[in-house]
Amino acid sequence: MAEKLNVAVIFGGVSNEHEISCLSAANVVSILDRDKYNVYVLGITRDGKWFLTDATPDQIRSGKWLDADSRNAFISPDRGVRGIYVVGGKNIKIDVAFPILHGKNGEDGAAAALLKLAGIPQVTTTMTSAACSMDKVITKILCERAGIIQAGWEMFYSSSLLKNVGGAADRIEARFDYPVFVKPVSAGSSVGVVKCSNRATLEAGLLEAARHDFKVLAEEFIDGSEVEVAVIGNSEPTASVCGQIAPSQEFYSYDSKYKDESSKLYIPAKISDDISAKVRNTAIEVFKTMECQGMARVDFFVCADGRVIFNELNTIPGFTDISMYPKLMAHSCCAGGELADRLIALALAEDRI
Ligand SMILES: Nc1ncnc2c1ncn2[C@@H]1O[C@H](COP(=O)(O)OP(=O)(O)O)[C@@H](O)[C@H]1O
Ligand SMILES: [Mg+2]
Repeated sequence: MAEKLNVAVIFGGVSNEHEISCLSAANVVSILDRDKYNVYVLGITRDGKWFLTDATPDQIRSGKWLDADSRNAFISPDRGVRGIYVVGGKNIKIDVAFPILHGKNGEDGAAAALLKLAGIPQVTTTMTSAACSMDKVITKILCERAGIIQAGWEMFYSSSLLKNVGGAADRIEARFDYPVFVKPVSAGSSVGVVKCSNRATLEAGLLEAARHDFKVLAEEFIDGSEVEVAVIGNSEPTASVCGQIAPSQEFYSYDSKYKDESSKLYIPAKISDDISAKVRNTAIEVFKTMECQGMARVDFFVCADGRVIFNELNTIPGFTDISMYPKLMAHSCCAGGELADRLIALALAEDRI
């Protein structure tokens, strides 16, 4: 039997998606096949302290993982370690890392950068691709150049919004009718996303989004259904079937994503085969344009007139019990442990950048 690989799962982190990372990591830890992998679990607290933990998936899910036996330990950037530096203990070599760190200080390229310095292959995309994909404006500019259709947008620096929110609202009103969507440029899980239906809510929304990031995006409202695709691969990525979300609230907010159980997912999406093919092809185009590796979930609006509008992509998509990425993959090619095997194989593949 082949020798087992040492896999590090890294979760938590200094991010407003910390809680979601715990939910995702609990699933990742439970699907990894113990006949193939020795699994080492590294938790990062909300204030950035690293621990190697013996927590069970339930303890990770509940956020109470520090109750379990946990030692100070972290991924060392020193390639002499090539793995986990255990404070006061023996270092552990790591063959592949599974950083499931959503949002800031992880998905934004930080995790990929650390693992690159450390010389450890990892299942998520490259540092550059992750950083560009996290920034919704850079994504828009690159995808626009590739001819991918998106909502009209305007960008503002938060510092200038604080000085002159009225000027920003004037510029938005000159271009778009209400409602207008306002969002932080580099957030996720709908944190700071506001639907604004008049001048007063627009100004309040801009200031709210500005609290979350140094750049803010205003977008024209797209009246369509939300359709998502899971993409997997390196140089020859493949797209899953399309999934569709019917949010329980006015839009797919943080609460409707994670708090109430009434948002509905339809797999496959209720769209024609033609539209589905268009969505899946565009998802692959986005994946390639953003130079993604391994995995990404690509999100769209599909309008009643058949227009397919790219919204955003996530390079470390949710792996929670209700998350689209694993559900779409399960419908299309591989579920549970097999999905983890596939992502690990891609991390170690010859065509990985
Ligand atoms: N331009 C838009 N038109 C209509 N709905 C939007 C628009 N932008 C965002 N939304 C709604 O807000 C949700 C969150 O926005 P999104 O851009 O996906 O940010 P996040 O990265 O936080 O998920 C979307 O799933 C959708 O429900
Ligand atoms: Mg989204």
